[in-house]
Amino acid sequence: MLETDARERVIVAIDCGRERALELADALSGHACWLKVGMTLFYAEGPAIVREIRERGFKVFLDLKLHDIPHQVRGAAEAAASTGADLLTVHGLGAGPMMAAAVEGAAAAAGDGERAKVIAVTVLTSMDQQALDSIGVDAPVADEADRLARLARDNGIDGVVCSPQEATRMRELLGEDALIVTPGVRPAGAALGDQSRVATPAAAIAGGASHIVVGRPITSADDPVAAFEAIVAELVEQA
Ligand code: C5P
Repeated sequence: MLETDARERVIVAIDCGRERALELADALSGHACWLKVGMTLFYAEGPAIVREIRERGFKVFLDLKLHDIPHQVRGAAEAAASTGADLLTVHGLGAGPMMAAAVEGAAAAAGDGERAKVIAVTVLTSMDQQALDSIGVDAPVADEADRLARLARDNGIDGVVCSPQEATRMRELLGEDALIVTPGVRPAGAALGDQSRVATPAAAIAGGASHIVVGRPITSADDPVAAFEAIVAELVEQA
């Protein structure tokens, strides 16, 4: 893989407070292309944090996992995309009209420009069969994930968030243009933290991911830039 392509495919999750997030953004500027802002940082700091990161030249994956009635989600997606975020998430469990509304909201924010992409969470990786049973979903986890991915695709959604283990299946299902974004990525030898089903960066990409999300192996490293560059080097060599 080309180095520029590799940089584009690694999304760094900055799950920390504002000061540390901006410190990491400054350090990674010129190295990484994408930063992921999750609910914790966004609810604490609001749209300003997205703008501050965008001003530093990054694309922003604003991972708010929207799930509400379509009217509310349309408005939320429009507001989220208006911050300048390039990629948004919704829950597939909100069903087709809600996902279509998210895409409409992102389009409304873009005007004549390119709209933010919207991807769907199928079954949260924290949920197992027992958890699905507990909410009355009888289908096996994999079937449920497939069903929600197809529903997302049929409602204009640009791709899915899934575990590296599901990436190959999702690529088959959604085709070559879909965004397939996989967290749960750990370079060989890195601490797992609370992630259990993990893959290395190169394995995740080889399995069909378009982008990988890597948080703590970069943000908790003594040298975050070196940790990021090691992942880029792995992708250049192996993917
Ligand atoms: O630090 P780590 O690499 O585990 O960070 C992964 C990021 O991806 C976190 O921001 C986490 O919230 C997010 N994520 C995840 N698993 C999912 C969906 C999102 O780890 N299924």
